[in-house]
Amino acid sequence: MFVNFRILALRFIAVLPSLFGLGNASMGASRHSRQPVDIDSGLGPLLSKSASISHSSSAAPRWSDFDAPKPGTVVNVSTEKDVVETVKYCVAHGITFLAQSGAHGWATTFRIGQRDVTINLRGLNSVTFNNEAQPTLTVGGGSIISEVIAVADANGAHVPTGNCNCVGTLGAILGGGVGHLMGLYGLGVDNLVTLNLVNAEGQLVTVDATQDPDLWWAVRGAGPNFGIVTSATLKAYPRADRSVWTGSLIFTEDKIEQIVSTINGLELLAPMSIFLYFATSGAPDYTPTVIVAPFYAGSTADAEAAFASILDIGPVANSMQRYPYTQANFANDALCGKGGRKPSYGSGLSQMVPATWRSIWNEYVEYVKNPAVGNSSVFVECYSFETAKKVPDSSSSYPFRSTVKYTTLVNNWYTDASLDPVAEAFGTKVRDLWRSTDGLAQNSTYVFLEFAFGDEPLGTVYGENVVKLQDLKRKYDPRGRFDQWFPLT
Ligand SMILES: *[C@@H]1O[C@H](CO)[C@@H](O)[C@H](O)[C@H]1NC(C)=O
Ligand SMILES: *[C@@H]1O[C@H](CO)[C@@H](O)[C@H](O)[C@H]1NC(C)=O
Ligand SMILES: *[C@@H]1O[C@H](CO)[C@@H](O)[C@H](O)[C@H]1NC(C)=O
Repeated sequence: MFVNFRILALRFIAVLPSLFGLGNASMGASRHSRQPVDIDSGLGPLLSKSASISHSSSAAPRWSDFDAPKPGTVVNVSTEKDVVETVKYCVAHGITFLAQSGAHGWATTFRIGQRDVTINLRGLNSVTFNNEAQPTLTVGGGSIISEVIAVADANGAHVPTGNCNCVGTLGAILGGGVGHLMGLYGLGVDNLVTLNLVNAEGQLVTVDATQDPDLWWAVRGAGPNFGIVTSATLKAYPRADRSVWTGSLIFTEDKIEQIVSTINGLELLAPMSIFLYFATSGAPDYTPTVIVAPFYAGSTADAEAAFASILDIGPVANSMQRYPYTQANFANDALCGKGGRKPSYGSGLSQMVPATWRSIWNEYVEYVKNPAVGNSSVFVECYSFETAKKVPDSSSSYPFRSTVKYTTLVNNWYTDASLDPVAEAFGTKVRDLWRSTDGLAQNSTYVFLEFAFGDEPLGTVYGENVVKLQDLKRKYDPRGRFDQWFPLT
């Protein structure tokens, strides 16, 4: 089959995923729903003028329709007080609720049905730059990553976020917060300065390292179990040249072992990250292809030196170039589309093993012979932990900073629900292969918010912190109002 690799290179950089940074700002739930109540007349008058209550789930469209929550009611909030009123109302009436911002959280642990409420935080999307000695950004719980980057860039600063423009900024951060700039600035949770949270009593409280250290620890890694974060302040980093070097390299499949062992041996300096994808060329041929996407927040000369061992493997196409900071995530924009079925399976790794990746490639090639699943991809994201490792493990409930080096994902994508079993079989098969040589003492997903499927035991997503988190859960949310995402109750 004829494949034009140069066109492919351009196409891949335009369509490929790097989906860390998926998720909602936070989630909440009371355990038992009672009979439907007239929420429009009961809650409506308590909300601000620009809030709205809708009974169509299209008022809160989601990224994946696979096992998605199907609320009977969506409350579009527009102030923090709207969140307070909605939570109080739901708690008083025994209504289960779930907060949503970017709507990319794909976990299958949500139990939201016709009697229940989705609190759509998208209206809380203000972003302001605070020009102080340590500059910060104050971001609303419904802001998405592109909005935060735009304001940071306009003020001459970087801010560590996830890499998908359409994803909720705080949802991605509250599970740990990985992203291209984390080598320079650390994990998202390390860059939180303070946050506002609606707690299980429906009170709006400010949480930071001094005001409530236990809750501060818990929310930074297990956020959705402890409240709805309505706004947060994040560190920003002034930087004259904010542009980045990124793009894609396409390789023939015989290079897989060499690529994997080179990535495994690559020293990831602070400005670096690198992804490896198995993806297809898309319609109509869906030709399986090996793509490497390096990223460097620094000069092109430094980037080419840092990635020399990868470039030397000899890609058949190379679309690396400079992009302004505001376009650093553009490669993922095509993946932002809502809808379709995307059951996704991830695992953390401490090493990259060539034979494992050869087996996964073989599985992938078989799988995408069915063009109906041809938009599905398999990938690994490799970040620099140089800065994150300067922060102790115990500083937050994010459990894996010193053990997990690489984070992987099977990103299924199709529309026909009858393909669910084959997609699930593929996802679990590949995840098993990853786990079989993960080099870790226990199975782990990288960040529970972003990469877990939903069937994982608590230790896989919360690591060693399960017991401490459960203790704090009894203190802060004894009735399990916030029990939608890998519940600790
Ligand atoms: C609620 O917000 C969503 C954006 O998240 C928007 O698409 C929808 O139109 C809003 N619904 C109403 C009734 O305002
Ligand atoms: C793959 O994605 C493209 C672009 O979104 C879409 O046009 C095409 O229909 C998708 N193919 C399948 C099989 O889902
Ligand atoms: C890790 O996951 C694999 C399946 O993917 C399973 O066979 C194994 O028992 C798990 N290990 C632990 C320690 O739970």
